[in-house]
Amino acid sequence: MRKKIVAGNWKMNKSFSEAVSLATTISKELSHKIVPAHFEAVLIPPFPFLRTVSEITFPVAHLNTGAQNCSSEKAGAFTGEVSAEMIASCGASYVIIGHSERRTLFAENGEVLQKKIDLAIDSGLTVIACVGESLKERKGGSYSEVIYKQVQEIVTTVSIEKISHLVIAYEPVWAIGTGETATPDQAVEVHNAIRQQLTEQYMEHAFQVPILYGGSCNASNAESLFSMPDIDGGLIGGASLKAQDFVAIFDSLK
Ligand code: PGA
Repeated sequence: MRKKIVAGNWKMNKSFSEAVSLATTISKELSHKIVPAHFEAVLIPPFPFLRTVSEITFPVAHLNTGAQNCSSEKAGAFTGEVSAEMIASCGASYVIIGHSERRTLFAENGEVLQKKIDLAIDSGLTVIACVGESLKERKGGSYSEVIYKQVQEIVTTVSIEKISHLVIAYEPVWAIGTGETATPDQAVEVHNAIRQQLTEQYMEHAFQVPILYGGSCNASNAESLFSMPDIDGGLIGGASLKAQDFVAIFDSLK
């Protein structure tokens, strides 16, 4: 059965003690819940907290961890970089690749993202590969082509044998951190198109790949988004920084 995932991208927020407290509260809350085997929550803290957060979440079967980025290089003299292997060795199972903040603020292009995806999957991680259009592209009507190109870069990198290590997140850039959410209909239109594109590449195996929505998803709107076909959960920024909100969003999974 296809996984349903709520992943909290903490971005560059929290001190170490705040991170420990957030992870501990969420772990306690989720440890009491009996959930279907295909439901999963993922905490994605900054790098320095990853090992500790992974230890805190380890006892809860449906709670895992991930990293926000990884290096496009395997190992060696790359000061300041963090490799996919290091992330996996800290107990994480996911890594976000191609978040719009990486694409726009750190000029990550398709070629770099493809190298990261390869290394991440070879290290045993599951990739949460992000795609999404800018406001200009949405308003100008070119969003379908923009997303198609981004998805194509991903699917041509991930062979069918590795498909269980792929999650796609549709995150319209105009909805990230703005309080403006895509309507369920807007999101579903894109999710359906992505599913179609995955089917062209992977045939019936395409239905295994979870497609998450991200962009001002919160405790109030999660339910209406997650009840739509082909929205398999969410990648949550701001609302993942509060334990109660994150747990409420997880509870909204259908
Ligand atoms: P947001 O961020 O929920 O704060 O809009 C989402 C994301 O960037 O993944």
